[in-house]
Amino acid sequence: MTRDAFYFVKGRVWFYILAPTGGNTMWSRRSFLRLAGSATGAAFAMRSYGIAEVEAATAAVAERTPEEVAADESYWREIQFAFTLDRTLINLNNGNQCPSPAVVHEACKRYMDWSNQAPVYHRGMIERNIEMARRRLANEFGADPEEIAITRNASESLQIAQMGLDLKPGDEILTTEQDYGRMLTTWDQRARRDKIKVTRIDFPCPTTQADLLKRFETAITLQTKVLHFCHITNQSGQLFPVRDLSRLARQRGIVTIVDGAHAMGHFPYKLRDLEMDYYGVSLHKWLLAPLGTGLLYVRRDRIAQTWPLQAAPERRDTDIRKFEEIGTSPAATKAAINEAIAFQQAIGIERKAARLRYLTLRWANELKKSPRIRLHSSLEPGQTWGLAVVSIEGVDSNKLVTHLMDKHRIIVTAVGHENIKDPKMSYRGLRITPNIYTPLEEIDTFVEAMLAVAKNGLPA
Ligand SMILES: Cc1ncc(COP(=O)(O)O)c(C=O)c1O
Repeated sequence: MTRDAFYFVKGRVWFYILAPTGGNTMWSRRSFLRLAGSATGAAFAMRSYGIAEVEAATAAVAERTPEEVAADESYWREIQFAFTLDRTLINLNNGNQCPSPAVVHEACKRYMDWSNQAPVYHRGMIERNIEMARRRLANEFGADPEEIAITRNASESLQIAQMGLDLKPGDEILTTEQDYGRMLTTWDQRARRDKIKVTRIDFPCPTTQADLLKRFETAITLQTKVLHFCHITNQSGQLFPVRDLSRLARQRGIVTIVDGAHAMGHFPYKLRDLEMDYYGVSLHKWLLAPLGTGLLYVRRDRIAQTWPLQAAPERRDTDIRKFEEIGTSPAATKAAINEAIAFQQAIGIERKAARLRYLTLRWANELKKSPRIRLHSSLEPGQTWGLAVVSIEGVDSNKLVTHLMDKHRIIVTAVGHENIKDPKMSYRGLRITPNIYTPLEEIDTFVEAMLAVAKNGLPA
């Protein structure tokens, strides 16, 4: 029998009320509230964690190294309180979209409500404050605010760069087989429309950054005008030598477009140190910002030469804001980026990255003991944090995804590709992406489930 349940917030505390069993009473909001003070129903309070609580928890561990904090369950328990999650599921597919902490989600709803009161007036007021988010993003990720555009996602950011360059027939784009499908589709469409040439480099998983640099260097021709690659791929977690590739390209007059969809908010770096021309990000991934937020970095001297995806007046040619001319759209999501940055700062990106790596090593080091299990991501320090790929020999990865969901309520996704010409490059496996809210017990459930399949195969 299903029982009615109800949430409400009083002060900074969330209450979760479960109606009594029996009878067929329809529970109204008022009756639930009456119940809140009585012992008739089972009521428990979930502490609501805002930025101040996270800061206080972090202050208590500030003297220790990020690696020591990564293994401190009581600290991460505090961080888990900051999220309102469906704990009936084990979500190991944060590589898709990450849930925002309550403080970010609530801010977004608040801005949405405010805006809705008189959109023409209030939305405009919020829009003016978006400059704050631009400044904070620039500050946190090491760039000039005049090089940062706020977009809706990495697809939009990267397509602005891909579609905004002047290219002529015969010009070549060098990219990889592991770049994001939509971005490859964008280049393929330009190839059909503008008769440019698109070359995809393949590589084994995992490989080294030196190997990737060599592969690009060898593949560059006199026609190459653009290098397009991921900072870290969504397909295997392979990390690319962004600065070395950017320098290599610049020496030859080649433009660099970097897909940072999975990098920002995942591990520490500064944009200005990477030296590329364009960098696109989805902020609703590892920064935990609201769905529908992205960032585009354009090196200052490239802004004027880049056409926006939606037209802007000529007087804005050198203004990064020309890439934000998308028509009427929510300001609330963008405004709440401020809370997402504050939340990240309250933990610290080094601690966040160390925890993600700690969770990955916990499952990967256990699973690799089984002779039937293969890892397709490097576990070397500085190469992997919260995204790694694993398969079980002889087990179809798609069927394994279904099994983990059906039997264990674990959400994962299958990734990989086939290279018929060079089978050494082919692989397929499960992409495992936990998050800072993931408790060890969920990782261990995943490990047990995988070891059972490695031992006994999938149930018939
Ligand atoms: C590597 C990579 N690039 C780009 C994207 C596109 O991101 P979005 O769908 O948020 O635009 C994704 C999405 O998963 C991705 O993994």
